[in-house]
Amino acid sequence: MCCNGIIVIFALLIGFAAIVYLLYQTYSYIKCGCGKYGPFVSSYGKIKEDMIEEARAVLKKAKHKMKVTDLGCGSGALLLPLAKEFPEHEFIGYEWDIVPLTMGKIKAAGLKNITFIKGDYMKQDYKDMDLIMCYVLKVTGEPLGKILADNIKESCVVISEMFPLGHLEETKQIESSIYGVPEKIFVYKKPKAEKRTSKQKTTPKQTSVKSKKAEVKKTKTSDQTKVKAKSSAKGIKKTTKGEKNVKKK
Ligand SMILES: C[S@@+](CC[C@H](N)C(=O)[O-])C[C@H]1O[C@@H](n2cnc3c(N)ncnc32)[C@H](O)[C@@H]1O
Repeated sequence: MCCNGIIVIFALLIGFAAIVYLLYQTYSYIKCGCGKYGPFVSSYGKIKEDMIEEARAVLKKAKHKMKVTDLGCGSGALLLPLAKEFPEHEFIGYEWDIVPLTMGKIKAAGLKNITFIKGDYMKQDYKDMDLIMCYVLKVTGEPLGKILADNIKESCVVISEMFPLGHLEETKQIESSIYGVPEKIFVYKKPKAEKRTSKQKTTPKQTSVKSKKAEVKKTKTSDQTKVKAKSSAKGIKKTTKGEKNVKKK
């Protein structure tokens, strides 16, 4: 009887935890624009270790105090081990979800070189950052890459977990894995100024379509001019070549 009571209490606790978890996941999904931004999923396993290793390599080479950030830092899975290992550098996590943010703050208690900031990473200033890490969705990679390409300094290194970012210059791809499934880490730097200006003007696809359109327009105009010249020379009405043939017949 007593044993049954314990089992019931245990099952109730598990059920309650599952409901809380599901409610939180729903809140997180809505908070993250229903698929526009990545909800809270902590970096884990090999890919987490590889992300940290890549950041470690950058920080070890540093000749001055580095400013490091994780965009959407969650509970600090990437930032906390680095902040502990490199007390001489400064670590900043941006996170808009209060749950992982509070977890991160609790875990970081006593560490003086790490700050958790509640805010949208799409609206921050990155011009002073030396190293940026992120684990964002594929759809976020394009607009976030644009913001970074326009704002980071030349020496800044950007490391993206699993998903590529747009507009930046890729310097390296690292083969990694998550739960045994092969995944990549992408490393970037600011693109060269001329690359950015030419990209901003038009994409290569747009250029070829535009130039083709311009070519067609040009051909049409020169044809029309030729017909016009011939017509006026022969003293006939403005017509196309086809119309002229029909008239002749
Ligand atoms: C996939 S998790 C990654 C967490 C952490 N970087 C890690 O590697 O463990 C993405 C985190 O970004 C946060 N997030 C998503 N969009 C955000 C935004 N625009 N501004 C701030 N945080 C955001 C989510 O709340 C979530 O905690």
